[in-house]
Amino acid sequence: AKNVGILAMEIYFPPTCVQQEALEAHDGVSKGKYTIGLGQDCMAFCTDVEDVISMSLTAVASLLEKYQIDPKQIGRLEVGSETVIDKSKSIKTFLMQTFEESGNTDIEGVDSTNACYGGTAALFNCVNWVESCSWDGRYGLVVCTDSAVYAEGPARPTGGAAAIAMLIGPDAPIAFESKLRGSHMSHTYDFYKPNLASEYPVVDGKLSQTCYLMALDSCYKHFCEKYEKLEGRPFSISDAEYFVFHSPYNKLVQKSFARLYFNDFLRNSSFVDEIAREKLSPFSALSCDESYQSRDLEKAAQQVAKHVYDVKVQPTTLIPKEVGNMYTASLYAAFASLIHNKHTSLSGKRVALFSYGSGLTATLFSFQIREGRHPFSLSNLATVMNVSGKLKSRHELPPEKFVETLKLMEHRYGGKDYVTSKDTSLLTPGTYYLTEVDSMYRRFYAKK
Ligand code: ACO
Repeated sequence: AKNVGILAMEIYFPPTCVQQEALEAHDGVSKGKYTIGLGQDCMAFCTDVEDVISMSLTAVASLLEKYQIDPKQIGRLEVGSETVIDKSKSIKTFLMQTFEESGNTDIEGVDSTNACYGGTAALFNCVNWVESCSWDGRYGLVVCTDSAVYAEGPARPTGGAAAIAMLIGPDAPIAFESKLRGSHMSHTYDFYKPNLASEYPVVDGKLSQTCYLMALDSCYKHFCEKYEKLEGRPFSISDAEYFVFHSPYNKLVQKSFARLYFNDFLRNSSFVDEIAREKLSPFSALSCDESYQSRDLEKAAQQVAKHVYDVKVQPTTLIPKEVGNMYTASLYAAFASLIHNKHTSLSGKRVALFSYGSGLTATLFSFQIREGRHPFSLSNLATVMNVSGKLKSRHELPPEKFVETLKLMEHRYGGKDYVTSKDTSLLTPGTYYLTEVDSMYRRFYAKK
């Protein structure tokens, strides 16, 4: 199989959201802390009728319908998620309902979990399957689904929720450059979920930022080495048209791109101009550890990289800024933003993507973008995802309602024997929703 990659995409996020500006006022923090400090505009959240299973049912049903894919044509289904609803039964098995109806139970794959990296692991599994000798000619399907919620405090505004479904196969408009992957994996306690009685993570915010940037450096180094071996010349930022990052909040994405720029400076890349060289030279002697702690370096690098960031990164930031951290779906929502903004001019371009999951696992990899044939053309992907339409039709709820919902969900987490409000007034037709969890913890869903 040639040019294996993403043929089609669909994104779903809850229609219920809270404005970050309103949340600043509600939380009593200084004005601008979430909007400028974190770089976030709005945050989606699930009400009591939605969860990671309902969102993924919605995304999968919509993808199959809008691209007219017969459920029998799916041969592998992989889910990435870090939102634990059941310690044994995979989310994938819930999604099997859709396929059983059409008589297709011959579908490999289960869930992958490691913080925000599970979706990338699922994607690699599907791509590797299509490229392998166990491939049976059918499509792979990858689903990233998460609801990011935090305990009260500084991490709470970095929540979000979404599900993304991606159809995998050969001759894709979004083709993997499978030889170009740089990974970095190590043992850290930056963000983890050891308390099985709570949906909230234990998080060391500062450490998680440093771990993220260290992983980025390391992945970039490996990626550059592989590129140089393959192409016979060094890689620099100029060799990819766009850079897409896992986006816990936009400020970290700004810092990350600046960090890549600083790497190119240290590697003596001709891409870094004279003025930038001068501004960054005071930091060239810092040890690696010192460089993560230097606020001056962070500011200087962001400043000199700004004009390149505006061109190579800004078009990828729309959905993550509007929806928040979607954990496993976050990177692919950033990529969906790029398709939304640039689908008419992406063909022939390379896009680099950085996936990060705390704990930690990270990979930098790349796509070659091609025009694609209907229904798998870039313009059709943009039409189906309808990002503007979905963002515009959302309902902004007051912070009090957001907090109240989280309280209710804390109470219900891991619980049984309840029916939900079944209030679907804010959901668009076709959306799946949770109706009941019975005395045996069995979950029931319906479609609006
Ligand atoms: N106006 C403008 N900027 C402001 C204001 C204001 N009024 N107040 C604060 N800021 C800026 C700060 O200067 C800082 O920016 P800088 O880093 O560029 O200097 C930024 O806002 C954040 O403020 P801090 O006080 O540094 O951090 P805070 O205590 O608010 O916590 C954090 C932020 C650590 C990101 C927290 O939200 C968190 O723990 N989130 C979850 C962890 C996370 O997402 N980690 C990322 C990788 S792991 C993952 O994906 C889950």
